[in-house]
Amino acid sequence: MTEKLWDGRFAEKTHHSVEAYTSSIAVDRRLYAYDIAGSVAHCRMLAKTGIISEETALTLVEGLGTIRREIDRGKFTFDDSLEDIHMHIEARLLQLVGKAAQELHTARSRNDQVALDVRMYLRQETADIIRGLTALRSAILEVAKNHMDVILPGYTHLQRAQPVLLSHHLMAYFEMFSRDAARLLDLMPRINVMPLGAAALAGTTYPIDRHYVAELLDFPSVSDNSMDAVADRDFVLEFLSAAAICMIHFSRLSEELILWASAEFRYIDLADAFSTGSSIMPQKKNPDISELTRGKTGRVTGNLVSLLMLMKSLPMAYNRDMQEDKEPLFDSVDTLKACIDIHIRMLPTITFNRETMMTAAARGYLNATDLADYLVNEGMPFRKAHSVVGQVVAHGIEKGLEIHEIPLKDLKTFSKLIKKDVFTLLTPESMVNRRSSFGGTSAANVWEAISRADARLSADLERIPEFRS
Ligand code: ARG
Repeated sequence: MTEKLWDGRFAEKTHHSVEAYTSSIAVDRRLYAYDIAGSVAHCRMLAKTGIISEETALTLVEGLGTIRREIDRGKFTFDDSLEDIHMHIEARLLQLVGKAAQELHTARSRNDQVALDVRMYLRQETADIIRGLTALRSAILEVAKNHMDVILPGYTHLQRAQPVLLSHHLMAYFEMFSRDAARLLDLMPRINVMPLGAAALAGTTYPIDRHYVAELLDFPSVSDNSMDAVADRDFVLEFLSAAAICMIHFSRLSEELILWASAEFRYIDLADAFSTGSSIMPQKKNPDISELTRGKTGRVTGNLVSLLMLMKSLPMAYNRDMQEDKEPLFDSVDTLKACIDIHIRMLPTITFNRETMMTAAARGYLNATDLADYLVNEGMPFRKAHSVVGQVVAHGIEKGLEIHEIPLKDLKTFSKLIKKDVFTLLTPESMVNRRSSFGGTSAANVWEAISRADARLSADLERIPEFRS
């Protein structure tokens, strides 16, 4: 058993079951690069302020570099008895450079150290996710551009409502993922706050220079309150919330793709490379990616709820409970990244069945509103028109005819205002293109929306920060 770095006041050795129970190394080892970068900056600051000698700092920085290479290359031994990544690195430093290592933790605590590591990790992952969302949005944009001639029924209550351009439907997802990216961009300045130097909770008696550490680690700001610095996980909660909302968008998209791929809809065919088979039914081609995405949404939402529950009763400042923040965080990061990645690959491979969608859009009285609008144009108040068209639809259902299949003379029995020119308005193309109010589904509108979307993508790409460490 390794000696503890904190065992001065303990008469008894820690029970091995306690070590297994309290250890977080299996989870937090992935923070090692940030932990080392943070320690290097801390050393430099300690030397600059004269708290440790330049020589000691040099030894420590070199030792930390060696450890970084050891872990990078898988040549580092992890051991439960050393609790967490911070202890592992410090203990190894002691082996490598001897007593100089005892000075590393001056003016610092694991409480501010872990807050720093998580912030450095999360700002990097958040930037990567925003970049991924940009690629996803550009994939959606491409599919939209390439399918401007496809019309399908738009639904409300999952009942056919009015025809829309497939591109308009897809651009709705572009909007959702744009808000997801915007949420993460907005969150960035709240992640990107430097907590080191808060020490355990109250600050430190040493003449440290926190702003210098912030500069070295490329942080634009330093936490104002030492207690908040170690107790705050709002930035993780905000990230988990943004991740859950983003997964909800994926889940809704998945639900549609699953429906659309069914024999009942047949709106799309999934590429073989992005579907899976059944172990028993040879004919099956399953939309497993979409189903799993829908399923993973539960876990990512659960991660948000986990951390909310974890934080809700914690008194100030740091509490060990907070060690449990990393599993949900890492899981949401990994899941969301995987989900973005697979959709960037899968979306362009979907075949949209233009004819099936068009046929569906042409049946089911989707032109009823347009007939009502026609009557309003001819001078009838909308409520009256609504009721007249309701009677036309009832008649059509009885005769087995769509509105545009009912002979003009029969239509006229419902209202004399109906004339021959009505039929040109009742086709899906006309219905789509006449919806030209800003944000509506007309082709001209959608092309404009697409070109605005192109510009928004480039603007967002410019806003993604890059970090020196
Ligand atoms: N492993 C701990 C965590 O992730 C590091 C901080 C531990 N601090 C302490 N006082 N035991 O939260």
